[in-house]
Amino acid sequence: MSQYTQTPGAQHNQVLCDLRSDTVTRPDAGMRAAMAEAEVGDDVYGEDPSLNRLEASIAERAGKEAALFLPTGTQSNLVAMLAHCGRGEEVITGRDYHVYKYEAGGASALGGIILDPLKVSADGGLEPADITAAVKEDDSHHPISRLLSLENTHNGKAVSLARLDACIVPAREAGLSVHLDGARVFNAVTELGCDLAEIAKRFDSVSICLSKGLGAPVGSVLVGPKDLIARARRLRKMVGGGMRQAGVLAAAGLYALDHNVTRLAEDHARAATLAETLRALGAGAVDHNTNMVFFTPADGDNAALGVALAKAGVVLSAGGTGAIRMVLHKDVTSEGFDATLAALKSYYS
Ligand SMILES: Cc1ncc(COP(=O)(O)O)c(C=O)c1O
Repeated sequence: MSQYTQTPGAQHNQVLCDLRSDTVTRPDAGMRAAMAEAEVGDDVYGEDPSLNRLEASIAERAGKEAALFLPTGTQSNLVAMLAHCGRGEEVITGRDYHVYKYEAGGASALGGIILDPLKVSADGGLEPADITAAVKEDDSHHPISRLLSLENTHNGKAVSLARLDACIVPAREAGLSVHLDGARVFNAVTELGCDLAEIAKRFDSVSICLSKGLGAPVGSVLVGPKDLIARARRLRKMVGGGMRQAGVLAAAGLYALDHNVTRLAEDHARAATLAETLRALGAGAVDHNTNMVFFTPADGDNAALGVALAKAGVVLSAGGTGAIRMVLHKDVTSEGFDATLAALKSYYS
């Protein structure tokens, strides 16, 4: 069952803390002021100064030639795959990665692209031998293997530079291009202690979300070489993502880059505290990485925990079986965080 499944029967009179995802953040007063003051123009004509500034700024941070703003991470990954691959060509990726599991099969449905999903290892990377084995021979029976698509962070796991390299080497040897779904790449940057360019230089293209831990209401940016981004710009228009005075959104993204990157370390520290609290309660298995905690109640009754926490004003996606994902983010207040810890202690005492 999906990690996004709502808790059945949960009643929320007052929400103190929403741990379903870091996508639930709302623009704060500073971000709203930046949006209100944004200089705008028609971006389809290339005339939105705020958007042009955002694209230039992210391209520079990532050490790439060009960048393209898109409304969502899903559209950014889709347009990237369409820009790298033609119909009948193949993306090798992870079975549990977002591009395969959670993007409604867009690359296949809309682009005639085949996805070959490999087992994802415990550290969030793929196995180099699996990648080598997945690359198809040049034979008329096979799709043409064109792209390797990795994810960082994956389920909150920051995949190390060495692991990324281990995956990329066999792909490059086979002549594949390499894309990164870096929806939460700034969490990886924070955890690995490197800069964005250090990760991005390993990839031809990287998709970066502004609307997750960075707290913007909307937006992702695809970075890469000029020719690929020019193709992506045309494809974004084709899938209906060419926006007009999108500078109000770009202003939120610029604000997020200036104000909300270094604070991600606070989310990671809180995730560690939440994980420690759960471990001390001895009520189930706990895994935690960057801003995410995965908790599998030993009694298997996820929904009962979700309902109990809802009464205390804490929102979880506890409708499934297996691990419940809890995600820390900038809109978790001290009051909400303390209420979460107290509710967990009370439920399991
Ligand atoms: C790893 C990953 N990639 C891509 C996306 C897609 O982003 P969006 O929801 O903006 O389409 C998500 C969304 O949560 C994600 O977690």
